[in-house]
Amino acid sequence: MLSILIGNPLKLTSMAWVYIEDLKRHVGQEVTLRGWLRGRRSSGKVHFLMVRDGTGVCQCVASMADLGAEAFVAADHLGHETSLEVSGTVREDRRAPGGVELSLTRIEPLGMSVDYPIAPKEHGVAFLLDLRHLGIRSSRQHAILRVRSEVEQAARDFFHERGFVLFDTPILTPTACEGTTNLFNVDYFSERQAYLTQSGQLYAEAGALAFGKVYCFGPTFRAEKSKTRRHLTEFWMVEPEVAFFTLEEDMALAEEFVACILGRVLERRREELKTLERDTSALERAAARPYPRLTYDEAVARLQAKGMPFKWGDDFGGDEETALSQEFDRPVMIHRYPASCKAFYMKHDPDRSELALCVDMLAPEGYGEIIGGGQREDDYETLRRRIAEHGLALEPLSWFLGLRRSGSVPHAGFGMGIERVLAWICGLHHVREAIPFPRLMDRLEP
Ligand code: 4AD
Ligand code: MG
Repeated sequence: MLSILIGNPLKLTSMAWVYIEDLKRHVGQEVTLRGWLRGRRSSGKVHFLMVRDGTGVCQCVASMADLGAEAFVAADHLGHETSLEVSGTVREDRRAPGGVELSLTRIEPLGMSVDYPIAPKEHGVAFLLDLRHLGIRSSRQHAILRVRSEVEQAARDFFHERGFVLFDTPILTPTACEGTTNLFNVDYFSERQAYLTQSGQLYAEAGALAFGKVYCFGPTFRAEKSKTRRHLTEFWMVEPEVAFFTLEEDMALAEEFVACILGRVLERRREELKTLERDTSALERAAARPYPRLTYDEAVARLQAKGMPFKWGDDFGGDEETALSQEFDRPVMIHRYPASCKAFYMKHDPDRSELALCVDMLAPEGYGEIIGGGQREDDYETLRRRIAEHGLALEPLSWFLGLRRSGSVPHAGFGMGIERVLAWICGLHHVREAIPFPRLMDRLEP
């Protein structure tokens, strides 16, 4: 029984093992689990070991009679997060988390865990971020990151089912997409300056003209020098782009997309939302369509009616977004912003050329912008002028401009930030909890 004290990592048995999520199918049977010790308590006569394996948590009951004296005593000294293999009989027990528990006949520690730094008590934010590689084992982080996985899969399914081609766009790029102030520079073989992509959109536009409807989905980078709860320096964005779409159709797609994602999480991730103590009735209301649409002008009027000192022509900041989104129980789409606060590629409204044919979707409950998009400038000369007006170098964008001379068509798309959507769906105070390893202005580790 020495192994129970020192661990025996090289000795996985050849026993078949089951996942905790499948235990209910094995009631009355003897099974083996592999996982980690989340916690334990003891009444003296029996020890309760909480074992997690990523698919769930199982209460394992250890008695001296079943285990033998030595193993029984040792079991009460295992450190939190020790990895182990356990065997026992599955018993139905309504009081146990998951509805079943295991009466142990065998415990085999694999890797010892010494002085596990995260205790089940309140820790400071900085401390937990420093220990993020371990913090992701907690039930709260499990819930968030499982919802994340569901949202990402739902996004892929949504576009795949509608015939969109997944179109992977480059991360190393020669030019800016969303303004030059927050670009990450990369030294490219000491010969050139490259940048980490801010958005796959420009390439997705080429894809849309090749395949009709595409989407890209990958990490994007912004050297944001602001420390807000909505900004990461590395975040994941899903970006559809569709040939022959105008702003109207783009907004309809964005609405259907977000409602579908919400519906999927509500259908499949109820348990996780419960763990997070998320008010699901608010999410259910937000899944109901149609989503309201306001012009920028109407939005400004609403802000001014609330007494907010906002001037026509400015972009909305966090405070304005919060104030606007709180007026609705579902996401609201604000369209036709002043072109001066938007990117160079936006098509202007033919009826009012000072406006861009763009849309931002704001999540309810003050979670702010989750989607930005719109119709793209499709005219060669106009786009060429815009590139110059925005002070961008023409040369690295010449291929993008050239698309307007190779069978240009009206087209539109949008980008949805995964972490912003997660923050909203999971009710998180800060987007940093919505990604396994957040990158912030002051954080590159772990
Ligand atoms: O509004 P943005 O900058 O739009 C684009 O990048 C377009 N090129 C997308 C397109 O039309 N294909 O960013 C889109 C979304 C935002 O609505 C927000 O959800 C998220 O990306 N986002 C961020 N998320 C976390 N941290 C940041 N720093 C973010 N910046 C944008
Ligand atoms: Mg935006």
